[in-house]
Amino acid sequence: MAKLTILRYPDPRLYTVAKPVATVDERIRRLVADMAETMYDAPGIGLAATQVDQHVQVLVIDISEERNDLRVFINPVLLSSDGIAIHEEGCLSVPGIYDKVTRAERVTVQALDAEGKSFTLDAEGLMAVCVQHEMDHLLGKVFVQYLSPLKQSRIKNKLKKRVLETM
Ligand code: NI
Repeated sequence: MAKLTILRYPDPRLYTVAKPVATVDERIRRLVADMAETMYDAPGIGLAATQVDQHVQVLVIDISEERNDLRVFINPVLLSSDGIAIHEEGCLSVPGIYDKVTRAERVTVQALDAEGKSFTLDAEGLMAVCVQHEMDHLLGKVFVQYLSPLKQSRIKNKLKKRVLETM
């Protein structure tokens, strides 16, 4: 396994639309393992392949306290969504920034697991937020794009400054 580099907003590669995975093979399983290691190390509760500059439809999520409940979503499709919920979100690609985002309260998602087997998940609460947030990454969308243009430019400036500070 290897830890991968996480792209930082506003890196334009984060706006790439991911392609579906044709076959869940050894290459994809290695990507899943590397993404899981990267997510746990960060630490974060979700990571999309887009964030590690791999533009295929792969997500890893673990919202458990014990960090032992890895969920893998390959080619995820939203089957249904309902309700409205507002949660504060953050993102490994937007370090140190948290803000409220309005999303569906409940979602049903269908995907393949790391073995290539299809499953359906009914999610609510944090899992629903996380699934929607990570699926957005595969569409080239970062959560800050839901915020006002003023907030977005403030965040961009803040993150650019932080990069300079660490050089
Ligand atoms: Ni994110």
